[in-house]
Amino acid sequence: MILDRFLLTDRVAIVTGASSGLGVSFASALAEAGADVVLAARREDRLKETAARVEQTGRRALPIAADLAEPADADRVVERAVAEFGRVDVLVNNAGIGTAVPALREDIEEFRRVLDVNLTGCFAMARAAANAMEHGGSIVNVSSVLSLTTAGLPQAAYSASKAGLNGLTRDLAQQWTGRKHIRVNALAPGFFASEMTEQYPPGYLDRQIGRVLAGRAGEHEELAAALLFLASDAGSYVTGQVLAVDGGLTIA
Ligand SMILES: NC(=O)c1ccc[n+]([C@@H]2O[C@H](COP(=O)([O-])OP(=O)(O)OC[C@H]3O[C@@H](n4cnc5c(N)ncnc54)[C@H](OP(=O)(O)O)[C@@H]3O)[C@@H](O)[C@H]2O)c1
Repeated sequence: MILDRFLLTDRVAIVTGASSGLGVSFASALAEAGADVVLAARREDRLKETAARVEQTGRRALPIAADLAEPADADRVVERAVAEFGRVDVLVNNAGIGTAVPALREDIEEFRRVLDVNLTGCFAMARAAANAMEHGGSIVNVSSVLSLTTAGLPQAAYSASKAGLNGLTRDLAQQWTGRKHIRVNALAPGFFASEMTEQYPPGYLDRQIGRVLAGRAGEHEELAAALLFLASDAGSYVTGQVLAVDGGLTIA
């Protein structure tokens, strides 16, 4: 059955940034598809709430408090995943932060912090996970439409980090698809409600929706469905790609 290709029965997935927003939906979707899910972020109380959602599906959850700007924390997350669940098959590099500051006023340390979480942190997690993916696997980096276009706010650090993530995706795919049987792809979401989008200035989202061909923001499940495609055997011949899930924003 073609639908079986979307199943992740008894596989182990790690979702970073699983304490709020899209990461919660990704974790739930992976569990519904049959995976045990390791949940990493800084806010442990919120991770426990996500763990409860995963466990409601009958799958196991492992919440781990971690600051993924620290490469040692990335190693620790993967080590604990292997110690508890015995393997790693899927990594969703979803943790991310954003700033919206005019470039002339952007603090260099703040710029570096965005790169540390959104780009270097994803590299550290990908490397640690790849070492543990003994049966091959799938890595999905959560990029952004801001890696491909602009959207009216001053977001140099964020846009640079996400464009860098697309480059990282391409090169890791080149290095690992054939040699390690690990596919590496990116999702480029458009607008989806989350704690990050709650920080937008008043009226901003309404103005931007005018650029979206679908005429609305996305629903979390619309993005989670694309994640399942890339994470599972449904996407077994897809690697090195950036898949925009944006209601047509980037081609309008
Ligand atoms: N929502 C959208 O419309 C949209 C569009 C394009 C791309 N994205 C991308 O989607 C991803 C998820 O964002 P979201 O919209 O769901 O926003 P969100 O609700 O703010 O989620 C961000 C997540 O990243 C985690 N995080 C941040 N810094 C971290 C760190 N140093 N170490 C570990 N975890 C960290 C946060 O957890 P803690 O605070 O608990 O650490 C949180 O779970 C991000 O990469 C974002 O760039 C979102």
